[in-house]
Amino acid sequence: ACGGGGKKDAAKKDNKEITIGFSQVGAESDWRVANTKSMKEALSAGNGFKLSFADAQQKQENQTKAVREFISQGVDVIAIAPVTETGWETVLKEAKEAGIPVITVDRQIKTSDDSLVSCWVGSDFKKEGVEAGKWLIKDMEKKGKKAANIAVLQGTIGSSAEIGRTKGFKEGIKDAKDFKIIASQTGEFTQAKGQEVMESFLKQYKNIDVVVAQNDNMAFGAIDALKAAGKKPGKDVTIISFDAVKAALKEVQNGQINAEFECNPLHGPRVADLAKKLMNGEKVEKVQYVEEQVFTKDNVDKFINERQY
Ligand code: AHR
Repeated sequence: ACGGGGKKDAAKKDNKEITIGFSQVGAESDWRVANTKSMKEALSAGNGFKLSFADAQQKQENQTKAVREFISQGVDVIAIAPVTETGWETVLKEAKEAGIPVITVDRQIKTSDDSLVSCWVGSDFKKEGVEAGKWLIKDMEKKGKKAANIAVLQGTIGSSAEIGRTKGFKEGIKDAKDFKIIASQTGEFTQAKGQEVMESFLKQYKNIDVVVAQNDNMAFGAIDALKAAGKKPGKDVTIISFDAVKAALKEVQNGQINAEFECNPLHGPRVADLAKKLMNGEKVEKVQYVEEQVFTKDNVDKFINERQY
């Protein structure tokens, strides 16, 4: 568990509004848009917050600038959805010196000093990757196939979402000796780049059996590229994706995506709760993973209607 919220704790005990700066990755995916909406709703005036929101457009240097601005504004709490895992030491030290607690959300940060981040809430990306690999082994077994050529559309290189899913997937397929990752490149978590990279994979490799898209928007791009190349996504080529936004669950229903590994974007209420607790000097869990599940044609009908994003 981590400690309280620094110098400003005492002043916040009287239920005044909490000022919070949130540095968001960008608007690269449907998942991200849902995450921003959740954060803005939970960190609203009606809920006792005054939010400064900064969109980093997928650039870490923009996040560093935003955090410095939040420090000079003297916010009570800083929340960061970090683009990349590393490169945070200096600016987080500045926040610590100013007595402002930092909550990381969604992706994680690596620092040599654990005390620079008060707590984190998000997904277990590595677990998602492991599950995806294990699912693929079972699926291929069902189809009577022992070997598979796999193409991976990676997310933003150096983001904990990419690192975890890449490592996890490799771990998940490690016992399947004839599963080969023949191509791996970043599609930056966007549909356009996902499509572009898939087009270039298809020009280079005629023998792709499986596409692992590290998020739904890249899967959408890959589906378009496969169709344009005369292939049937979900049938000629197995498609695995992460996030499970509503549009992707529809693709599971219609058979163009074979399996969806959920990544939950609705962190707003959790961050609001953590910020309030930190301001009250309460102890909170340092690391908090959210519950996630797998969707395939077998169970998707039960869940699709309740999906809000
Ligand atoms: O960090 C979470 C990832 O970032 C989501 O999988 C992706 O859609 C988003 O852009």
